[in-house]
Amino acid sequence: MEQIQGLSSLAGAFQEHMAEKRKFQAIKGTRDLLPLETELWNRVEQTAREVFGTFGFGEIRLPIFEPTELFARSIGTDTDVVAKEMYSFEDYDTSEILELLESRKAALTWVDSPVSPPYGPMGAGAQAIFQPLGSVIGNVVRLGLDAYQRGRIPRTPENERLLADLKDGIGTFVGSINSRSMGENRQAVNGLKGLVGQLRFGDSLCLRPEVTASVCRAYIEHNMHALAQPVKLYCIGPMFRRERPQKGRYRQFYQIDVEVLEAITPNTDATKSLGKDAAVDAEVIEMVMVYFARLGLEGVQLDINSIGHSAPDCRRGYVEKLKAELEKVKDKLGADSRRRIETNPLRVLDSKLESEQAIIEKLPRIGDHLCADCAKHYAEVKRQLDLRGVAYHENWRLVRGLDYYMRTTFEITARGLGSQNAVCGGGRYDGLVELLGGPPTRGIGFAIGEDRVILSLLETGHSPLATRHSPLLYIAWMGEKTLATAIRAARDLRQAGFRVELPPVEQKFSKALGQADKLGARYALILGEDEVASGEWTLKTLADGTQGKYSEEGLMEFLRKTRPS
Ligand code: HAM
Repeated sequence: MEQIQGLSSLAGAFQEHMAEKRKFQAIKGTRDLLPLETELWNRVEQTAREVFGTFGFGEIRLPIFEPTELFARSIGTDTDVVAKEMYSFEDYDTSEILELLESRKAALTWVDSPVSPPYGPMGAGAQAIFQPLGSVIGNVVRLGLDAYQRGRIPRTPENERLLADLKDGIGTFVGSINSRSMGENRQAVNGLKGLVGQLRFGDSLCLRPEVTASVCRAYIEHNMHALAQPVKLYCIGPMFRRERPQKGRYRQFYQIDVEVLEAITPNTDATKSLGKDAAVDAEVIEMVMVYFARLGLEGVQLDINSIGHSAPDCRRGYVEKLKAELEKVKDKLGADSRRRIETNPLRVLDSKLESEQAIIEKLPRIGDHLCADCAKHYAEVKRQLDLRGVAYHENWRLVRGLDYYMRTTFEITARGLGSQNAVCGGGRYDGLVELLGGPPTRGIGFAIGEDRVILSLLETGHSPLATRHSPLLYIAWMGEKTLATAIRAARDLRQAGFRVELPPVEQKFSKALGQADKLGARYALILGEDEVASGEWTLKTLADGTQGKYSEEGLMEFLRKTRPS
């Protein structure tokens, strides 16, 4: 019996231990990138810097969080990214509005006692049940008005209205509790809670889901339209979208983003600039293809399309036609597509649902509805791509999931990725800078999904070189008197650019060699008291066990000559 108890307490302790261990794991959809793999990440980023540099691009580093409104306005409120996937939060100084925060929590979590009767006016008994909510919400109003006046919560018209409505609402509510039924009182409580929930205590910020909008914000903020145009920028870093994680799709993922922005000078002939824009589009696409080729990415396919511009004789007219056709086949579509007929009919073309494919193929095509200028621009993009020897595949269904695009859209896929095989997406977005409050500006850019590029490289056999991470040389020092020499040798060798491992404490000879082997070192430098006294150091090649004697300079010379590439 005792034994069983002992075992079960052991099992309990083990479970507790496991629960403890499970507590701290990377959050779903995020990953740790460890050495060896990070070697590959660095190479992918370094190659981007080199290739983009040759095309005249400069690096821009931007904040990870920005106002939510920046993305809502540019990407579009009906897109999946903005409607479902943003990590947004209210930004306020907790210490300044502590009591207000507590009163809001008290109001939102307030529940009445589960009392019948459900029908008819409740009479005097109701006061006892619902009166407390009156004072809870009264606190929100009192503290809220005070914080509003002091500017500790945003002084927006919405907050002003909500506080006034709450003040009135609470008076009406308390005055008529007795004459309402239980159900009616509960309904009134929910109405008041709803108003409390809408109060904004701070600016809404979010983790950036992409960076095109941020680049445009920075372009405006730093008056980049006054620089030589176009301004060519790239930005490398993490993005955040609350998507369902799967292979190649993460909640924190990394993009290598490229943008070309060009202020529109007044009185320029719009038709003339079509040819120039098309050349810029083609060069940007050429650059990413050159980059992928340099990386050795396999199975690369470029899809292009033109989605025209927002005018009745172009995309807007087409969308109306598309909508009308979609209405006719509505019953055969899935729930997502049916919803999109209203919110964003173009996105129906993006559907991967097997049952919708035959229907979509019969829908009107945007290419047949482009205005003359957009058609001319698209033809010129294709001619420019041909001139540059860039192979492409025209895909009339390529509409992209963000609202700011016009004319050129493109996407690149690669091997080894399964369903999430887009490694790059981009397009033209003239007008976005203006939409964000800047001067009329043209824009074209793309973002590469770095996680997916790495995944594709790994899946197609581009493993990072383990040896690049291993030390070249392991210093096996023995005897306290040799430590000073060992430290100096390590410093000089590292300064000369060699990877050196210096064990922090003295080790037995066999242990030192074993450790050097485990780390994958190529050489062991043996430093004993004899070596230090004679100035002749012993270098052992670990692969074949051969040894040689070198002076300090001689060693340096030898390593330089045999430096691994
Ligand atoms: P996007 O198509 O939303 O475009 O994303 C570009 C690329 O980022 C995708 O093709 C994919 O490789 C990668 N990506 C997107 N979401 C995830 C995820 N959850 N996990 C892993 N990788 C992902 C944009 O973001 C635009 N800002 C591109 C752009 C720049 N257009 C003009 N300039």
